[in-house]
Formats: sequence, structure tokens, C-alpha cells
Amino acid sequence: MTKILIGQSVAFGASADELTHETRGAIAIGDDGLILFRGPLSLLPRAFEMSPHEDFGEALLMAGFVDAHIHFPQYRMLAAAAKDLLDWLSRYTFPEEAKYADAAHAADAAEIFLANLFRYGTTSALAFCSSHKTCAEALFNAAHKRNMALIAGKTLMDRNAIPAVQDTVEQGALDTLALHTAFHGKGRLRHAVTPRFAITSTEAQLQMAGEVLQECKGALMQTHLSESAGEIAWIKSLFPNEMDYTAVYERFGLVTDHSLFAHGIHLSARELGALNEAGSTVVHCPTSNTFLGSGLMEMDGRNHIGLATDVGGGTSYSMLQTMGETYKVQMLNGRKLKAAELFFMATLGNAQRLRIDAETGSLTVGKFADIIVLDPAATPVLEARHALSNSIEDVLFALALLGDDRSVKATYVAGEKVHSCL
Ligand code: GUN
Ligand code: ZN
Repeated sequence: MTKILIGQSVAFGASADELTHETRGAIAIGDDGLILFRGPLSLLPRAFEMSPHEDFGEALLMAGFVDAHIHFPQYRMLAAAAKDLLDWLSRYTFPEEAKYADAAHAADAAEIFLANLFRYGTTSALAFCSSHKTCAEALFNAAHKRNMALIAGKTLMDRNAIPAVQDTVEQGALDTLALHTAFHGKGRLRHAVTPRFAITSTEAQLQMAGEVLQECKGALMQTHLSESAGEIAWIKSLFPNEMDYTAVYERFGLVTDHSLFAHGIHLSARELGALNEAGSTVVHCPTSNTFLGSGLMEMDGRNHIGLATDVGGGTSYSMLQTMGETYKVQMLNGRKLKAAELFFMATLGNAQRLRIDAETGSLTVGKFADIIVLDPAATPVLEARHALSNSIEDVLFALALLGDDRSVKATYVAGEKVHSCL
């Protein structure tokens, strides 16, 4: 049955400058989970007047967040203190990811992981799984059950890690192709070819990843690039003949317009030029970058930027906190972002980079009703700050800087309520 959500609706058009705000807004959602109407309540078509409705009062109705880079098998290993990225990977990350060879462990974890995303208002994500096919299968199955637009891939890694998380060129190819066949385009699921980074893949595996990417029609490619000083030095010694880190990925056909590179902090002008020319995306992960001491990514020079939590290197599932930390990192870089820019990046901007913007990322008629209800006065501090807000931009700014899961009152995926704390 058609249902109606009522509240203050905040919707973006094609850019951060096109923000529509209705103080009494309504969204009608059809049986198929698609948005049938969005606009002022006063203009709700008569045909919907008798439909069941939920009135959220002054809470904001917005598009659900899209997380452009997150690690499913790191869902519970946030805040693992280490010297740097490489220390963190070997000391905590690889042993934790090894547990995902067990299908039952992966299935249980997938339920918790998705519940976490929904509690924080994230309705779509591009996720790394472990190197085990079981891990990706568990996540895809759990997301499919909820009709969620989720993109994931099994991590390819055949060197420089403990044996329990390594695959081989052959097994990696077989598993990646099998996952593409089984899940890409199943409901709202999509697949991403996922080499972890050039340190943990041999040249033969990177070569294979490039070839498999061509075979996997419609798949994205996700990996890590230029995150930490130690990583870059190791890349230099592993690939002495390449002019820089990005050139390694270019050589194997991995720098494309459907490639997403997490971090991309320490890139040269040449590397930025190559990424921009290809139409690749650099995914900014501020809470991870400050936690691991990796560096402060500049936004300048990067044509396509995504925004992500990078849990569990990142210290929060919250895209609100991620926006807040993005603001602070960019202030340190001498750039002052507007709230509308931050919210745009965390919703439609990320959806565009993940190529799911035809179905999600904004409150647009015909898209899936991936919607969150945000309380701008959810905590005493927010409530007091909210009393000073004099524009919707200011309300959004306070939410980005001070909000977290306590502001997420409800989350809908394809029109179904998947989280509520009213
Ligand atoms: N580089 C290679 N693997 C990882 C990972 O799991 N997290 C982060 N932050 N960087 C990586
Ligand atoms: Zn990552």
C-alpha cells in the first residue's frame, strides 16, 4: 500500500546549489518502494490523502547516506591503535579478516554490519569484503534480503599478508567472476573488482584484476592509493620501474572512469592528471586519515571526490561525523566547505561516483525511497545549537558538526523501515 512520510523535506537537484526545502513536506512511496511524489504537503495529490502516513513533525526527511568506502569484515575493529597503516594492517586487520573464511561468522557479522549502517543513516555503500568468497556472499545475501543498493567485492590479495587472508591469482579470478555472475544486477546489488592495494597483489594478480574487470561488465573497481608514507616507500621498492604509485594501477588497466581509489592523499601533479583524465574517483576518508596519521587530503586538483567512513580504519560509521571531519581537515588545508556541499557529497555526489544515482541518492520521483529522518535537536547540545540556527544551511551545518546516530530517527530502504528509534 502507498505510504506517506511527512516532515521538513530537504532535497538536492543536480548540484549542491540546488537545494529544495519544504517546512511541511511530504513523500509518497509506492508498493514497489519507489518515490511517487515529493513536494509540499499542501500539494500532495488527493489520490494519496487516504494512504497511511507518518508525521515526523520538524525532523528532516532526506536521502539516505551513501558510504563510498567501507570494510565489512572490519565492522568491529574500530579504534585499534597502531603506529601507522602498515602496522595496523598486520597487527589487527589481517587476523580479524581471517575469521571470514567461516561462512557462519560472516553471515552473523553481515546482519550486525547492515544494522550499524542503517542505525547511522547509511542506505547504500561500496564495501570491501575479506579475501574469502564466503564473506562477500554473506554480505550480498544480507543486503539483497533488504532490497539495498549495495556494491561489494571480494578482496584480491596474494602476497605480503598472513596466509589465512591470501588467495592466489587463479582462485581470485574464479571467485571474482563467480561473484559477478551470481550477484551483479541481482535486485539492487552490484559488484566491484577489489584488489586490496598494490602491496598485497603480485603483478600477475594485478594483471588478472585488469583483465577480469573488462570481463565483469558494469562492475566498478575499488582499491587503495597513496594513503601513507610507509606504503608509498614500499610501493617504490616493489615496483622500481614505475614512475609513481598511480602508474602501477595504470599499467594494469585499473585506472578508469569506474575506478574508486580510497585516500589518494600524497599524489603528485602527474598522478592527479592521470586520475582526472581517466575520470577516476578519489575517496576521502577523513576519520581514518587522522586516526592512522596518514595525512590531510587536499580537495584541490581532484576532479571527482567521494566521501567515506573507511570503517574500521575510520573511527565512525556516521556520515554526519565524516562530514564534520571533512570540514575540519579542509579548514586545515585552507578551504571552507558549506554544509550543502558536504551533504551533497554524502548523498547524490557519492551515488554518482558509485553509478547508482539513477536509483538513489536524492528524493526524486522514480528513485527508490532510500530515506532518513534526521532530528536536528536530538541531543541537549544540538537542541541548544538548533535554537540559534536561522537557515536550513545552518541547521545542516550544525548536524554535520555535532550529529551522529542519535539524530537518525528512522531509516528506510526501498520504502521499508529498516531502523527506527522513535
Ligand atoms: N590499505 C590496504 N588495506 C587497507 C585497509 O583495510 N584500510 C585502509 N585504511 N587502508 C588500506
Ligand atoms: Zn579502506
